[in-house]
Amino acid sequence: MHPFDTLEPSQLRDRYSIKWNLYAEGVLPLWVADMDFPISGHVKAALLERLESNLGYPFMAGDPQLMDALIKKQFEYGLTDLEPKNLWLVSSVVPGLYAAVQGLTSVGDEIITMTPIYPPFLTSITDHGRVAVQNPMVFSESGWQIDFEQLEGLVTPKTKVFMLCNPHNPTGRVFLKTELERLAEFALRHDLLVISDELHAELILDGTHVPFASLSGMRERTVTVTGPCKAYNTAGLGGGVMIAHNTDLLERCKRATKGLMGHPTSLSMTMWQAGLEDKSGWREDVLSYVRGNRDFTFSWLSAHLPEVKFAPLEGTYLLWLDFGAFPNPSGLYKHFLEVAKVGLNDGPPYGTGYAGWLRINLATSRNILSEALERIERCLRATLD
Ligand SMILES: Cc1ncc(COP(=O)(O)O)c(C=O)c1O
Repeated sequence: MHPFDTLEPSQLRDRYSIKWNLYAEGVLPLWVADMDFPISGHVKAALLERLESNLGYPFMAGDPQLMDALIKKQFEYGLTDLEPKNLWLVSSVVPGLYAAVQGLTSVGDEIITMTPIYPPFLTSITDHGRVAVQNPMVFSESGWQIDFEQLEGLVTPKTKVFMLCNPHNPTGRVFLKTELERLAEFALRHDLLVISDELHAELILDGTHVPFASLSGMRERTVTVTGPCKAYNTAGLGGGVMIAHNTDLLERCKRATKGLMGHPTSLSMTMWQAGLEDKSGWREDVLSYVRGNRDFTFSWLSAHLPEVKFAPLEGTYLLWLDFGAFPNPSGLYKHFLEVAKVGLNDGPPYGTGYAGWLRINLATSRNILSEALERIERCLRATLD
């Protein structure tokens, strides 16, 4: 038995967790992207040590040891020649996306992004008067594909930026180098800047993470945004980084948000460095457990709910499910919450046309996951009867 198998709702319903407290007691919450697993013992020990040492002002540009560890990690991924001046520590990834949109574009500019997409991509574009242009990916059960043909037709003189989620939330795609090269060629041909959110890079189930900025012609035009929260399960501590070989791009983002970003917190930096340097095997263990949950969910759905459609999950612990075969699919989010007592993420905030799609978070114990799936099945079969 794996230690994660023993996780129980009563122990997870911690008073500080929004995941476990947003919905009424009795609901199994498989929504927001927190893992139910305890953090690595190595990270916890580093945090305790920092708590006992000093919580005064840290190095505002980042603990030097963290900057070294971040540069080393990016080097391993293939992003070479980075120096501390190419990195800007931000409060977390979403503020980094907002800073990038505001720094790289003006009001009225158009930004293309591939939907379905993690909703703050769309709000970071529209909240400050930019225009979100959606490029829906093409679904089939063999895998989500980029619609390159449609992409070409979306470009207008107002298009300034292509905004990528790499790996992609919520489809779970870990894009192939050849696909990313085609996107890079597209960005170059239309003289677009690129914002690449690579937060899920350490959560690869199958495949290899390719940083967008490592592709030919992309160094000078890409701002990468990433952070520690998904890989180390520490979203409550925040932390993020914007990376650009082209320091002018970073300067534009800094100017656009001057005074608003705050300085990095001591605990987020310690956690991040410890996570990057963790040799305990915690993350490998988490990935292997998530792979098991993914495989379990796929066979369970195929056996019990073959009407539900999904594509292979290559990265992240989030699975995007199509319930369109059932009556009134757009009401299912609420129906599951109220009747099945399972909390998922509803489709519409992820882009136009995703009513009837729901996102499920697989990073929980196998028991909780299977109980949630059984509740969903019972609820759907009762509706159909
Ligand atoms: C692609 C992506 N970007 C950003 C975030 C949020 O990052 P942060 O909490 O660091 O702002 C998430 C959270 O799930 C995400 O999936």
